[in-house]
Amino acid sequence: MSALELVERKKRGGSLSRSEISSLVDGFTRGHIPDYQMAAFLMAVWFRGLDAGETLALTESMMRSGRVLDLARIPGPKIDKHSTGGVGDKVSLPLIGIAMACGVRVPMLSGRALGHTGGTLDKLESIPGYVTAFDAERYERLLRHPGGTIVGQSDDLVPADRDLYALRDVTATVDCVPLIVASILSKKFAAGVDGVVLDVKVGSGAFMRDMEQARELARALVAVGAAFGRPVSVLFTRMDEPLGEAVGNAVEVVEAVEFLRGGGPEDLREVTFVLVAEMLRMGGLAASAEEGVSKARAACGDGSALACFRALVEGHGGRLDWDAPGCGLDVAPVAASLTAPRRASLAAVDGRQLGLAVVDLGGGRKRKQDLIDARVGLRWRARIGDVLEAGAPVADILAPPGMAVDAVRRRVEAALTWSDAAPPGAARVLGRYPDAG
Ligand code: URA
Repeated sequence: MSALELVERKKRGGSLSRSEISSLVDGFTRGHIPDYQMAAFLMAVWFRGLDAGETLALTESMMRSGRVLDLARIPGPKIDKHSTGGVGDKVSLPLIGIAMACGVRVPMLSGRALGHTGGTLDKLESIPGYVTAFDAERYERLLRHPGGTIVGQSDDLVPADRDLYALRDVTATVDCVPLIVASILSKKFAAGVDGVVLDVKVGSGAFMRDMEQARELARALVAVGAAFGRPVSVLFTRMDEPLGEAVGNAVEVVEAVEFLRGGGPEDLREVTFVLVAEMLRMGGLAASAEEGVSKARAACGDGSALACFRALVEGHGGRLDWDAPGCGLDVAPVAASLTAPRRASLAAVDGRQLGLAVVDLGGGRKRKQDLIDARVGLRWRARIGDVLEAGAPVADILAPPGMAVDAVRRRVEAALTWSDAAPPGAARVLGRYPDAG
């Protein structure tokens, strides 16, 4: 069967066999199937979906597009966490330091910015010298000591996800349950994890806009995990407004380090601690979520989490000025500030528009070949439910001198809904799957 015939069949709602899916993934990864045919396939999947067997076959073919690492000889639980993507979601950076300090080994295979959401690899590359390319010797060495590593897909580690991910980013095919499942779990299982904790983001700044879609994604993730014989658990967290204050690349690294120093915004701390606690439970290092959270807090308080994160960054060649304000990173100055138009409460935020504002500034990609400007971003200074006086700060736009930011400013303004009634502030952690029993 030619790729064209398979695209045609999926377009009409037919199903594909395991070997047909494998031939598509293989042909694309080897460069025999061009981007335009694969983009058509992805769009056909977006409209027609994949059944459980096809989703499993896609995950497996993508995982086997490169090496599948076996970490059995490294002692201790190897657990990773992955987010389905959000705005200002820098959780992976502090989380890995905390989890390592608590005794989990974290082989983290991350991605780049996707759609309007940021990517851990792009954030790390704002650190001078940090090498995100996978290198087998360094990977194993850092996993043994200090106990964690963050790398990207490569020619020999899930190249299919690297290439499909980049194509989905620019073809509006990201928000699709089977494609997300295969993308995330092919990476994680190729990286050699024992289990994965997933942060499924829900809301206007996420790919899953409501709890129904989020539950569908969670069920599919847990089912594919079970088929691979590995535990997958899901926490649902709210993603309509940014998590924390910093949105961008370098600014998010700075906020992550502030967090590990014992500061950082409360919502970021809450979500991170809950996710670490789940990793500890999965790895048999905490008997309950409460015990996990208190271990995580302690690792932040005694400096061990920061020491682990620092060793990880330096192990990848990264150079940060750890004691300087802003870690010595190049962050763009405030080019414009948004303030409350009158005394009112912030009732709702369209998080997707905030993410797109950062893409407009150059902090994300519109085409595959685009380079990212790590300096730009937003500083998010209000929270949904806050009652603000007229003129109170809401957001700063960070952009290099001379860059026109009027359109970005209008986009951010249009993303905000004000109300005279005070809506209740909403919880960040919305639930879990499977339910704790
Ligand atoms: N994260 C991934 O790795 N892949 C997706 O498709 C979405 C979020």
